Amino acid sequence: MLTLENVGLVIGSGSSAKTLLEDINLQVGPGESLGLVGESGSGKSMTLRSILRTLPGGSVPSGSVRFRDREIPSLSREELRRFRAADVSMISQNPMAALNPVLRVERFLIEGIQAAKPRTSAAEARQTALGLLADVGIHDPERCLRSYPHQLSGGMLQRVVIAGSVARGSSLLLADEPTTALDVTTQSDVVAILNEARTEAGMAMIFVAHDLDLAAAACQRIAVMNKGRIVEAGPAGEVLGSPRHEYTQMLVASKPSLTRRTPLRPIPGEAAE
Ligand SMILES: Nc1ncnc2c1ncn2[C@@H]1O[C@H](COP(=O)(O)OP(=O)(O)O)[C@@H](O)[C@H]1O
Ligand SMILES: [Mg+2]
Repeated sequence: MLTLENVGLVIGSGSSAKTLLEDINLQVGPGESLGLVGESGSGKSMTLRSILRTLPGGSVPSGSVRFRDREIPSLSREELRRFRAADVSMISQNPMAALNPVLRVERFLIEGIQAAKPRTSAAEARQTALGLLADVGIHDPERCLRSYPHQLSGGMLQRVVIAGSVARGSSLLLADEPTTALDVTTQSDVVAILNEARTEAGMAMIFVAHDLDLAAAACQRIAVMNKGRIVEAGPAGEVLGSPRHEYTQMLVASKPSLTRRTPLRPIPGEAAE
C-alpha cells in the first residue's frame, strides 16, 4: 500500500544544507504495522512528514514515496488535499493538535463520518460515532460526545482521535509517538486500541517510538533509524532478540532492565532535543 524507495531529504541550500534523510526504504501493506525506532533527532518524524508532505518550508523529498498507484511527491495541491483528507491519518503526541478546541467531540466525529460517507444523516452518523467511541474503550460515549476537548484526559483524547481515523475510513495510519504523553497503563491501552483499529479496518500503520520495547510490543516489523538512515529492519522479535547492527545492539543494551546486571551503556549519536 505504501512504499518508500531511496527517499532522501536535504533541507536548506549552499553551506547551510543539511541532509536529514538518506536512502530510506520501507514498505507497509494493508493491515500491517511497522515500528520506526530511533533516538530523538534520528529522522523518524521527518520520514512521516515526507509521506504526508508536511516538511519544513514545503520541501519535497527525493526518491519515491508511493501510496497505492500515486507518487506523493508529484501530487498536485488538490490531489494532496484529497490524500490527506481521505487516505491518511496522523496521530501525534499531542491529540489536541488534531481537534478543534471550540467544537464538541460530536462535531469532530460526525464530520469525519460524513466526509467518508456523504449521504449519512446526522442521526445515523451520531449512532456510528457512539459505537466508535465504545470500540475505543470509552465507557460513557454519550457524555464524551457532548464534551469539549479540554474536558477530556490525554488518554481519552487520544482514543477520540483514533476513533476519528476509523470514522474517516483512513487506510494509512501514521502514529508519531502517540503514547509518549500518557501514563504507562494508558499507553498499553492506546497501543491495543490502535492495533484493534488496524486489524479490524485493515489499516496500514507506521508507529514511531524512541522505545524499542514499546515498538516491538506494538508492531509486527521494526525499522531502526540512526542519523537519517535505516540501519536495520526485520520482524520485531528478531530485531529485539538478536539485533545485528551495532546501533540496535546499543539500543537494546541501554534499556533499563530489572533483570540485567551489566551497567547501562550510553548511546552515541546526535540528540537533537
Ligand atoms: N524545521 C527544521 N529545519 C531543519 N532541520 C530540522 C527541522 N526540524 C527538525 N530538524 C532536524 O531534522 C533531524 C531529524 O528530526 P526528526 O525527524 O524530528 O527526529 P525524530 O523524530 O527522530 O526525533 C534533526 O537533526 C533535527 O534537528
Ligand atoms: Mg519526532
